[in-house]
Amino acid sequence: MLRPKAVLFDAYGTLFDVYSVAHAAEQLFPGRGEKLALLWRDKQLEYTRLLTMSGRYQTFWEITCASLRYAVQRFELPLDPAGEAHLLNQYRHLSAFPENKAVLAELKKRGIVTGILSNGDPAMLSVAVKSAGLKELLSHVLSVDAVKRFKTDPTAYSLGPRALGLPAREILFVSSNCWDAIGATWYGYTTLWVNRTGVPLEQLDTTPTRIGSSLREVLSFFPS
Ligand code: LAC
Repeated sequence: MLRPKAVLFDAYGTLFDVYSVAHAAEQLFPGRGEKLALLWRDKQLEYTRLLTMSGRYQTFWEITCASLRYAVQRFELPLDPAGEAHLLNQYRHLSAFPENKAVLAELKKRGIVTGILSNGDPAMLSVAVKSAGLKELLSHVLSVDAVKRFKTDPTAYSLGPRALGLPAREILFVSSNCWDAIGATWYGYTTLWVNRTGVPLEQLDTTPTRIGSSLREVLSFFPS
């Protein structure tokens, strides 16, 4: 197997725990927080695809705000402006999954170039990376905002090889979102799907290069 020379991570859901907003939502709406967080995330992704398919663009932050408004209306939840600001603030400062920092630190020790390739816009990513304490551990933070097309559009994935000066197959692309791992596989990356919750593989006749259950699996691609 070809050994990759660098690694790019998806951000939301992979490095940052997007469902940690469910906890904040649960406090506002007991018993309905998880449902709200799930629809919020699904709508957010749906809007990225709708916009890119129609040749339109709004920033990921605008989409994040709009999809929260949709989810709240859909469930008829009485979210006042202070509550909305609270949830959006939580989204800006998501927690990182517990193993992530150690994995990134180990990659740095092994001399591997690391980065993010995300739908998030640069301002969002910068705040998230800083508040999760990952700033010193990532050499690149690539945002699709540069091309105004969301993943899984090939133009979005092309940012990686362009920034790293490597062919896609020599870059390991890591995502906890199966659809993203598959999009990156189609583009030509070596891929790892981190299936944290044990959900089924998307039935699209494509399997990522490897499937793991924690970000620690990344280290097996880069022996020390
Ligand atoms: C990202 C979203 C899709 O960070 O998770 O690109």
